[in-house]
Amino acid sequence: MEKFVIGGGKALKGEVRISGAKNAAVAILPAVMLADGPCIIENLPEISDVAAILNVIKTLGAEIRVINKSTVEINPAHINSFVVSKEMANCMRASSYFLGALLGRMNRARVAPPGGCNFGVRPIDQHIKGFEALGAEMSIENGMVEGRAHGLRGASIYLDVVSVGATINIILAAVKAKGLTVIENAAREPHIVDLANFLNSMGADIMGAGTSVIKIRGVDTLKGTSYSIIPDQIEAGTYMAAAVATGGDIMLNNVTPKHLESIIAKMREMGAEITEYDETVRVCMNRRPKKCNIKTLPHPGFPTDMQPQIATVLTVAEGTSIVTEGVWDSRFRYVDQLTLMGADIQVDGKMAVITGVDHLNPAPVKAVDLRAGAAMIIAGLTANGITEIEDIDHIDRGYENIVEKFSALGADIRRVPVIDGRVILKQA
Ligand code: EPU
Repeated sequence: MEKFVIGGGKALKGEVRISGAKNAAVAILPAVMLADGPCIIENLPEISDVAAILNVIKTLGAEIRVINKSTVEINPAHINSFVVSKEMANCMRASSYFLGALLGRMNRARVAPPGGCNFGVRPIDQHIKGFEALGAEMSIENGMVEGRAHGLRGASIYLDVVSVGATINIILAAVKAKGLTVIENAAREPHIVDLANFLNSMGADIMGAGTSVIKIRGVDTLKGTSYSIIPDQIEAGTYMAAAVATGGDIMLNNVTPKHLESIIAKMREMGAEITEYDETVRVCMNRRPKKCNIKTLPHPGFPTDMQPQIATVLTVAEGTSIVTEGVWDSRFRYVDQLTLMGADIQVDGKMAVITGVDHLNPAPVKAVDLRAGAAMIIAGLTANGITEIEDIDHIDRGYENIVEKFSALGADIRRVPVIDGRVILKQA
């Protein structure tokens, strides 16, 4: 077991290179299974969720060659299994994408229900509805989600809720189905556009990704391709939030400023000076953050995956802010941890009222999920003194080299082993 130990109170300064997007990578890697030949995927983030997906693909029979730490070549030609076991699926949400990808490739899928962060109920009814509309028979057998089809056929599918996962899964199943599939009320996140661009580079015919109506004309075959994943919008937003919270001045390299619009807008409201270049953004904060109200919504709204990080900045802002969660039922489980550090937050259902305090106090806290863990790091960087964060495996699921990246920005952060509940501090 390991912990992060953070000495807070320093303004972040310097440059950070943003890695490839987790939520694009975990969709594009299963999509490789639809190809007839090898694919080279570049700009993969080195995180445990990507390692877990690669492990599943390998277990299903694909050959994987690691070219360098962010590039792999995957040859799916010999995939011969359609079973993703509970052990493989449990630790991540994106394992559900194997349903769409395996149905698309083999007309058969048996996948354990997905795991991932705990935000209350995380149904997959819209995914199942989509597969059934395409002609698959779906059932739950022995705790596994089973899908069987005799050739999928295009269909019109209206999503009752805007769902990233259902949109991606339906694209995966429909891309080689016979005829036209139309997804209405589709999610519009940048990673959905990235998945469509990847599949189109293999010869797919997908139009409208990035809008709420996506049209997929099925093709018989998809060829191998080379593709580079987009930068991670949420990793970028996390470093931006840390800069704003600590009064820092940082440059983020390898970003797509367009994907950061809602985050940039809110940080400007909080008083940050933000300059956008082609693939770089500078964030400079010369004052205490101003209060700001935020409501999370599907893209192009403010991303729910930035909600804990931005709420943490608001704990030290001037005045009272209201943060409303518009995507998940229960995404304020981290608030208790911030309260341990002296934050003044009242949660009422899907709304949090945050009254800014002068400073947070260091305390031992837990990463209750991935983004909540990132929020604890921001809190620790803001507090004067030593903050310890437990359960950091959640953070490793989605942030590449987080200690190295924050250290390069001047933060005092260390990953230390914990033996029998005791932190073992090594001399630097
Ligand atoms: N929903 C349904 N039925 C469904 C699917 C979703 O009711 O069949 C509801 C959910 O309960 C939720 C809403 O629809 O209230 C949106 O869920 P969505 O399906 O969009 O979420 P997801 O695909 O499970 C992805 C990201 C999450 C991110 C959400 C929302 C991946 C692997 N995960 O989850 O990312 O919060 O979209 O943007 O892409 C993270 O990276 O930290 C993370 C949790």
